[in-house]
Amino acid sequence: MIRWSTAAKNVLEDYLAREKQESELMKSLPVSEGMQMRDQWLLQVGEDVGAFLHTLVLSKPNATILELGTSYGYSTLFLAHAAKQSNSKIISIELNANKQQYAQQELAKAEVAEVVDFRCGDVLETLANLDMQVDIVLIDIWKELYQPCLASVLPYLNKAAVVIADNMVFPPHHKDDVDRYRHYLYDLPQLKSSTLLEIGSGIEVSVFN
Ligand SMILES: C[S@@+](CC[C@H](N)C(=O)[O-])C[C@H]1O[C@@H](n2cnc3c(N)ncnc32)[C@H](O)[C@@H]1O
Repeated sequence: MIRWSTAAKNVLEDYLAREKQESELMKSLPVSEGMQMRDQWLLQVGEDVGAFLHTLVLSKPNATILELGTSYGYSTLFLAHAAKQSNSKIISIELNANKQQYAQQELAKAEVAEVVDFRCGDVLETLANLDMQVDIVLIDIWKELYQPCLASVLPYLNKAAVVIADNMVFPPHHKDDVDRYRHYLYDLPQLKSSTLLEIGSGIEVSVFN
């Protein structure tokens, strides 16, 4: 159970209400129509993965966390709430400025925005100029970018860094990109361990040297 502050709990409840509404609407639409509207959706990791991320962040105090794909800030809320308690900081990258502004406003309402460095821009360009080493990475970007993002992030990983990739199981139309990510991952000599956890849309959790 996450011990939310009152301010963060209120913001979470708004996200959960929106998640419920969107999930019903999404089910009523053909996949192609849903894809066309994708910038309107939260595209959230969901509460189970959020809780996992929260616990992971609490377990690594003083960490630098990299989030690839802020969207509207749902996953950032879980990461930031834990980061504030564990003296950690987050760099969250997103291409869509409107989404990231929304995320920043919500996190300010939740009183956790100060632990997040929001960087608006293309993920691969931003990673090419990253100025720090990182301890936790959440990859939750468009799926064709998963493998290139992992390749770009490798030089910045601290010892025992944990890399989490979302949407490993659902939705199934990402299978080719997911397979490309996992084949690349499993061939890495620096990989210590990797496990597919069937929570939310399925997350691959990997530990690096
Ligand atoms: C699945 S959503 C992230 C969801 C978020 N992690 C959450 O759980 O709330 C993926 C995000 O990646 C962003 N994105 C896609 N391509 C990008 C790129 N080249 N650079 C930066 N962000 C990108 C999209 O705009 C979208 O908001």
